[in-house]
Amino acid sequence: HSLQPLHTFALSSQCQNFVEITDSAQLKSQCFKVPFCLLGEGSNTIFLNDYAGTVIKMATQGITITERSHDFLVSVAAGENWHQLVTYLLEQGIAGFENLALIPGTVGAAPVQNIGAYGVEIAQFIEAVDYFDIDSGSFKSLTNQQCHFAYRESVFKHALKNKAVITQVHFKLSKIWQPVLSYGPLQQLKNPTPQQVCAQVIQTRNSKLPNPYKLANAGSFFKNPIITNSELAQLITTYPEVPHYPHGAGHHKVAAGWLIEQAGLKGYKIADIEVHQQQALVLVNHGNSTGDDLINMIAHIQDIVLTRYNISLEHEVRLIDQHNECHISLEQS
Ligand code: EPU
Repeated sequence: HSLQPLHTFALSSQCQNFVEITDSAQLKSQCFKVPFCLLGEGSNTIFLNDYAGTVIKMATQGITITERSHDFLVSVAAGENWHQLVTYLLEQGIAGFENLALIPGTVGAAPVQNIGAYGVEIAQFIEAVDYFDIDSGSFKSLTNQQCHFAYRESVFKHALKNKAVITQVHFKLSKIWQPVLSYGPLQQLKNPTPQQVCAQVIQTRNSKLPNPYKLANAGSFFKNPIITNSELAQLITTYPEVPHYPHGAGHHKVAAGWLIEQAGLKGYKIADIEVHQQQALVLVNHGNSTGDDLINMIAHIQDIVLTRYNISLEHEVRLIDQHNECHISLEQS
């Protein structure tokens, strides 16, 4: 089965078996023989080679809205498309997700890496996450706290990795809308409606981020690195312009896109993979590249950034080789 149309970076690859789940009850009879790989719309997963296992795509549908005294409880099946949910809720008069408009992918994948943009993270709205527990073969649920959300992090990337299939996400959306307009292009909006915020987010994303269905890419490729305050002070002596944001008391997050651009890597190409001209944190695939080309590109960027700034970049995108998820870091290359 071809994996090329199943992941937005669209490397040419095949898997041995492919299963599409349209009803969560199917999970009970699914054989989770290793290796297997859970997939939504494949916008944050890249298959580097042919995959010697089963790819299980979550395609369940369904949205239920329950009105409560102060908020709406919105329960959504894992296979629903995230952006369609955002626009559907706005049409129903339920606001809150507009800063997260146009993020590619499914609702079920969203909590795994705690999707975030323009000052908002999905974790702020999650009440509970339901999942199928592979070991026990039963359905379970986690509260927000139990999900251990952090910047692009959750329990699903750690203790529950390859152990849980997210089936449904329960969101709590307040009836009192509080827009988040702190991010640059949103600051110009004066008393906006949720629809206006959504439109501005869409316009901003379209100006920088390539549409994954038109030009193959997987969004931000690396995480914005988190460094200590003293490391930041050191960095600033040479690079006073580096964009940085406080991250807890002792740390700052720095903009990886800026580090990559200032290192002269915008437009840098290996085979058909290119550092995107509008946003250096995004890698695009023009069509004829291999997993090895991508690995070389990742190692090259990590090497340049480490040498120049003494900062290690960690890829945010999930990379899958023949049998497993893999991590590319300089120590390993
Ligand atoms: N910048 C540059 N050059 C570049 C890219 C960025 O100088 O080539 C500078 C920008 O001018 C800005 C700063 O770096 O001062 C941050 O850039 P931007 O606002 O574009 O956001 P980002 O930090 O690169 C993160 C998320 C995005 C999210 C945006 C907006 C991560 C890994 N990425 O990117 O999420 O849309 O903020 O909030 O945290 C994704 O995860 O796939 C994704 C697109």
